[in-house]
Amino acid sequence: MPTEPGQHYRIPLSRPRITDGDRQSVLSVLESHRLAGGPWTTRFETISRETLGVPTVACSSGTAGLILALKALGVTGGEVITPALGFIASAHAIRAVGATPRFCDVSPETLCCGPEEVERVWTDQVQAIMPVDLLGVPAPVGALMEWAGTRGVPVIEDACEALGTRVGGKPCGSLADAASFGFYPNKILTMGEGGLVACRDEEVASQIRQLANQGRTGPGFAFSGEGFNYRLTELQAALGVSQWEGLESRIDDRQRVADHYLKLLETVSGVVPAPAPALDQSGDCRSWFTFVVLLENAGWRSLVREHLANEGIETGLYFPSITDFKPYDQSPRGDLAVTENVSPRMLALPFHADLDLSEVEEVVTTLKEALIRCT
Ligand SMILES: Cc1ncc(COP(=O)(O)O)c(C=O)c1O
Repeated sequence: MPTEPGQHYRIPLSRPRITDGDRQSVLSVLESHRLAGGPWTTRFETISRETLGVPTVACSSGTAGLILALKALGVTGGEVITPALGFIASAHAIRAVGATPRFCDVSPETLCCGPEEVERVWTDQVQAIMPVDLLGVPAPVGALMEWAGTRGVPVIEDACEALGTRVGGKPCGSLADAASFGFYPNKILTMGEGGLVACRDEEVASQIRQLANQGRTGPGFAFSGEGFNYRLTELQAALGVSQWEGLESRIDDRQRVADHYLKLLETVSGVVPAPAPALDQSGDCRSWFTFVVLLENAGWRSLVREHLANEGIETGLYFPSITDFKPYDQSPRGDLAVTENVSPRMLALPFHADLDLSEVEEVVTTLKEALIRCT
């Protein structure tokens, strides 16, 4: 019974798609002997800029991207509003620049925060807003930009889970003052580790590029100020370029898996898919990060997980409230009723672009058996 982390599951929670093209690209870097600061990093920034339609800067992780964006937009203290329902990296990035996360709730319709949730926790100490596109669902960034504009604070979008999502014809990550994407192996594209910051302003992009590269303003020892080593290696960039070329087919394949889950779950009682807004404009698209369901009763979750694990099916707890963890259990926050209601009922099911539809059927059948045991 593979119940411990690292143990092998017959149907794992996620699995990266690695193609022959990926292997060849990485191998070509090894053979070139140029392992950092080379043409692949430039190509990665070019291809991402073409897709997103705004300047982009490659960096070493999604968390590094959030830190760089906060720094470049002048956040060095005060508070940053971010939703409690999400991954702890958003809060860590805020703390890393010397600010304090102030946690807001999420909307029950999207599990993301919008102006209404942010407004409820606003204080004069707030220096920025960091919405999260949870599970690939777009936070209402256009509305948040308008709202934040009236208060004179920037919006830094945590788009780590939403590469490929499009709303109103605009790619997720292209509307905020800055947005960060992550490329950990469970993401739609991976470089093992890696990140990308998108921002609307060339000046901010150039500042982020300097910060990520020890404060360099040019080749050699041209340092202008503060900096980090948050660079990407050429091995990562080559993998990133090759993976990016398959972005559309990955989005389609993940949608196919999600559609099958959605259809099968219609007949299962005691569980519903995590809520998401209808994206009905032509060209709109949700890029699925993972497939999360909400159990009717939080008390069923351990039993359901155990039953699935006994059958070799891995599940995940996406996401606990960030306020549940020690570094943030005393952090300022508003009322978190939706987060507290939803979070203990969330269960991530196996999900990736190459998941076979017969595996989806097996997961849902096994889930159904588990729920019968619970009720
Ligand atoms: C919402 C969110 N923010 C930030 C991150 C951090 O990204 P990384 O692991 O690339 O630093 C993740 C990664 O899973 C994430 O899901």
